[in-house]
Amino acid sequence: FADVSLQRRQEILEVLCAGLARQEYRGYDSAGIGIDGDKPNEVVYFKEVGKVAGLRKKIASSSIDVDKVFISQVSIAHTRWATHGQPSERNCHPVRSDEKNEFCVVHNGIVTNGGELRLVLQKRGYVFETDTDTEAVAKLTKYIYDSQPKGITFTELVKAVLKELEGSFAFVFKSIHYPNEVVTARRGSPLLIGVKTDKKLKVDFVDVEFAGQENDSKVDVPPPTPSSLLAPPTISPKVLRTQSRAFMSEDGLPQPIEFYIASDAAAVVEHTKRVLYLEDDDIAHIAEGELHIHRLRRKEDGDQTPGQIATTRSIETLELEIAAIMKGKFDTFMQKEIYEQPESVVNTMRGRVNFDTHQITLGGLRAYLPIMRRCRRIVFIACGTSYHSCLATRAIFEELTEIPVSVELASDFLDRKTPIFRDDVCVFLSQSGETADTILALRYCLERGALCVGIVNTVGSTLSRETHCGVHINAGPEVGVASTKAYTSQYIALLLVALQLSEDRISFSERRRQIIDALHEMPGMIKKVLEQDKGLQQLATTISDNKSLLLMGRGYQYATCLEGALKIKEISYMHSEGILAGELKHGPLALIDENMPVIIIMTQDSLYPKVQSAFAQITARKAQPVVLCNEGDEGIPAGAKTIRVPKTVDCLQGLLNIIPLQLLSYHLAVKNGCDVDFPRNLAKSVTVE
Ligand code: G6P
Repeated sequence: FADVSLQRRQEILEVLCAGLARQEYRGYDSAGIGIDGDKPNEVVYFKEVGKVAGLRKKIASSSIDVDKVFISQVSIAHTRWATHGQPSERNCHPVRSDEKNEFCVVHNGIVTNGGELRLVLQKRGYVFETDTDTEAVAKLTKYIYDSQPKGITFTELVKAVLKELEGSFAFVFKSIHYPNEVVTARRGSPLLIGVKTDKKLKVDFVDVEFAGQENDSKVDVPPPTPSSLLAPPTISPKVLRTQSRAFMSEDGLPQPIEFYIASDAAAVVEHTKRVLYLEDDDIAHIAEGELHIHRLRRKEDGDQTPGQIATTRSIETLELEIAAIMKGKFDTFMQKEIYEQPESVVNTMRGRVNFDTHQITLGGLRAYLPIMRRCRRIVFIACGTSYHSCLATRAIFEELTEIPVSVELASDFLDRKTPIFRDDVCVFLSQSGETADTILALRYCLERGALCVGIVNTVGSTLSRETHCGVHINAGPEVGVASTKAYTSQYIALLLVALQLSEDRISFSERRRQIIDALHEMPGMIKKVLEQDKGLQQLATTISDNKSLLLMGRGYQYATCLEGALKIKEISYMHSEGILAGELKHGPLALIDENMPVIIIMTQDSLYPKVQSAFAQITARKAQPVVLCNEGDEGIPAGAKTIRVPKTVDCLQGLLNIIPLQLLSYHLAVKNGCDVDFPRNLAKSVTVE
């Protein structure tokens, strides 16, 4: 929050706390604020684990002078959802470069080379006070600042920092070297600037600059590897500007103006509805009531000259109410989360999959890989949707590791007092990391000396703390009770574990390469499946009056059937059952007649002929199944209703096949007037046995 207008500190704090509270729906584990102190070059922090209400209490009980008036100031605040380092006061943002607070940073996203940067900076004498990837960024900023001649602008400095970073981020930087200035930048994580002024704004936009062939002298930063830190970058302040216009009122007079930088419009909308969305690689600088936007050249800009690249960012006027903004253009969180999957699967793979060398790096497992490779068996343990992600990946896990895998529902595993031994590896899957049955199963296995591995979405959760090692799936907060994006991310995380375990097997190298190449294509393919939403909405209309819906498949797709059926019953309350097509003759065939709606999954893998015969068996009993099949498959009988999805490698096909079923369940629930995000009798996190 930066402003050029008279403000009491109390009001500034209120703006920040209210802004954080507006984003509570996104899920977070701790919150923090950094504001200007009473003396120049002073920054005061408030940090608290838990809710924003706790942060407010902390502020209220402090002795800070709330009546102090500022003419111009910059304050930053953040709610944290841990990715690196447990939720704790220590790891709250803002994170600082040093005790003098030369640079303070808040960050959303993951800096994937944060660990390497940390090591290099530690070698240069920097002592870290948090476990966050963000602190490496704060310290890197100081390192580059100290190695530059005086006079470098804040923007040039941040630009040099960003060039060293890999991963995704939205940052806000505050510095005692640049009082009343703020720099904010994004790559991959959302970021916007709300602009509040009484005057009508004359121009929308500011300036864009490009580094590159035409302007090589401008910024000379070594390539983005930590080793480049050994040679500090030299930065010349020369700037190429294709436009240079600042915000001005129509009469050109100075004006009181406030800027609100946020990752989410919900945080700013009560102050202003005029919002400018930053794009990837935009760097915005705010000082003295002016906003300037710079842009780093992106890969996709190719050889385009500045004149060929869009040089404007327009200010949009938000029409929506706050609740609607939180869900973006979606009606419910579940729908939003379904649509987030092209990005959430990327986040699961980010920094872990090298698509060029076909290598997998799961840092959290590194030290345990030899034990895992030597174990007698692997036991997957989970509940609900997480259990289905285990079933979906069991076959490929066994194929790549050649270790027997059993899959257990946590409650049943405990009921049976299943024998577990020291040479077992037990893998616990959980979105929340707080499911009581799964936690009890974990403790049971720990007592018996097994190696316990967590695959969890929520960092700092009980499961992620109590397992020996693990992988965070990084799908981002999931609000809808029915799990969607966590399923696809768990699926991928498990696959990455199998790929990592098999990396030393030459005989699997072709198979691994095929899977990794297909993973690269996955986000685009998911997007394509999402485009079929309208058709699925229509399908929902035709079946919503039925009492029951059967989903049939086999092999890799059995898990898809179970997960699809779970989605349907969870949120639409329609009875639905996932049926293993191989078991059809042993009972389920009795359910089939002309009135029973059936979806049969017939995507092309080695079991395709067997599913074809299941199709024949049910159509002979007058069923009119909807066939979920691959695009371009001409073997599907003419006249059959189809849902078409792109074809991918057999063990990944389930990632695509589940998407139409998620969408179908959603539309069935809407059609039946159900509360999609909060279905009756169910909870997102089941913390009781
Ligand atoms: C509840 C939720 C499900 C979830 C299951 C397991 O039943 O409603 O969506 O799959 O718990 O939760 P977990 O957090 O352990 O994945």
